[in-house]
Amino acid sequence: MSNPKTNYRDGDAYTRMAKKAGYRSRASLKLKEILKKDISIKKGMSIIDLGSFPGGWTQVVKESVGNKGTVAAVDIQDMKEIKGTFFIHKSIAELEDDDFEEFREKVPFDLVLSDMAPNISGIRETDDAQMIYLVENVLSVIDKFLKKGGSALIKVFQGESLDYTRNALSDRFKTCKVNKPSASRSNSKETYVIGKEFK
Ligand SMILES: C[S@@+](CC[C@H](N)C(=O)[O-])C[C@H]1O[C@@H](n2cnc3c(N)ncnc32)[C@H](O)[C@@H]1O
Repeated sequence: MSNPKTNYRDGDAYTRMAKKAGYRSRASLKLKEILKKDISIKKGMSIIDLGSFPGGWTQVVKESVGNKGTVAAVDIQDMKEIKGTFFIHKSIAELEDDDFEEFREKVPFDLVLSDMAPNISGIRETDDAQMIYLVENVLSVIDKFLKKGGSALIKVFQGESLDYTRNALSDRFKTCKVNKPSASRSNSKETYVIGKEFK
């Protein structure tokens, strides 16, 4: 059983660390942990960050790809500019080729990231169904815009959406694994599925 007081203190420490490092969200530390262990980002890569607001993940991947790399961030909420990245202000369900006009030569992407989550209702069946709907949209982005041999990282909830996503990524990628970073609160249902080597 997790201790809520300990979780709160852990969360606070990560929030302070992220703030001190100049990141817009504590989520940036979760991504850094996952990248260190499971995904290697090289200079010059092109990455799409789905559900990017306020921009913590976008900042992290921009640092990794450097000036020659490309980062496209997408969110239904407007996001303050992050220098050297492209922001697309719309739902991922509406993404189309024309949205990538400014950096056409960098598409398909090397990596698709999704940290999206639905508004939590507290009703398990509803939340799972909404998360699966978001994952279906991410899979459609993967199928249309990910390079052969590329990777994907998708946030899900433990339970039905995890099982669904694991199966979907196992079909599409050579390897599939799950990683819950320690920066993710232990009382949170969120976890991350990683697919590598898109077939
Ligand atoms: C947990 S936040 C992302 C935090 C971000 N990774 C960071 O590090 O700052 C999830 C985001 O997903 C966005 N989102 C949810 N559904 C979306 C959709 N259909 N299309 C685009 N963005 C969506 C929300 O607006 C929210 O900003």
